[in-house]
Amino acid sequence: MKKIILDCDPGMDDSVAIVMAAKSPEIELLAVTTVNGNYPVDVTCANARKTLEMIGRTDIPVARGMARPMVRDSPRDPFTHGKDGQGENFLPDPVMPPSKYHAVDLIIETVKRHPREVHLVVTGPMTNIAMALIKEPELGPLVASIVAISGAFGFNEYAFLNATGDTPQSEWNVYVDPEAANIVYRSGIPFTALGLDVATHFDVNFTDREIESLRGRPNKEARFLATAIDFVRNRGFDAYCAVIDCMAVAYVIDPSLVETVRGRVGIETGNGLTLGMTVLDRRHHHAWNDLPEIAMGRHAAYDRFLRLLIDVIGV
Ligand code: BDR
Ligand code: CA
Repeated sequence: MKKIILDCDPGMDDSVAIVMAAKSPEIELLAVTTVNGNYPVDVTCANARKTLEMIGRTDIPVARGMARPMVRDSPRDPFTHGKDGQGENFLPDPVMPPSKYHAVDLIIETVKRHPREVHLVVTGPMTNIAMALIKEPELGPLVASIVAISGAFGFNEYAFLNATGDTPQSEWNVYVDPEAANIVYRSGIPFTALGLDVATHFDVNFTDREIESLRGRPNKEARFLATAIDFVRNRGFDAYCAVIDCMAVAYVIDPSLVETVRGRVGIETGNGLTLGMTVLDRRHHHAWNDLPEIAMGRHAAYDRFLRLLIDVIGV
């Protein structure tokens, strides 16, 4: 069983990722930490608690984290996750309280309690993680790994066709807090970025039959996913939008799902056309060796990913 902390900004796909992490027999979900991103942190913290209540896992602590990016104002998400931030599932208000710890402190304490065992799965802007690394400079070597939905690297057309940030080639989680992402990319912690190249690939899609079958199941989380898919489709988007963040959880469950490649990546923190872009230096000659080397998802076994997702969510 892999121990993880899920740091997220639910968000409908973050919510499905929470369900997946909480239900997977391969994962021990130690905590859910929430951050400003798709919505303000009070909303993302409430949505994480609503999600855990939906599946009866109120034993998992949910902490409220950073309310804004490290140095900038929070941008408005050009894409919407609906009036409730959960694909208009309108779950009941949560009864469980948030953790008494701030997310940054819960991350630090949890990692220290299980040195070199905790994987940080990050599906929102990296503000909480960067702040934890700043607050506790000894933390980095104690983290087993980071797997993040982060960036767009240009391995295929989807990387930029589906750009989620508000500049032409940026991914939302990096775009919201590029300074935080820069700290985390440079942290030296083993880091895998699953970018839009793989997480929004059009092969990540559901058949009408699969959606109908989810809708007909007795468990609430299967119907939650079907409703989120209806929501994105009614707005003219493809179903994959409801499950982008699930790929990070799936990768922790089964790393053979995503083929990765290593390379040096810098993050654009200057304002303008390329703010938030994750720039991969692919040059043979004169490459910038001071950029951090990370692993990036280049290709995924999309069918197997969807099957795993449906298997975990649907029962
Ligand atoms: C990211 O943007 C958010 O809207 C999703 O939850 C996902 O984490 C993809 O760029
Ligand atoms: Ca997210």
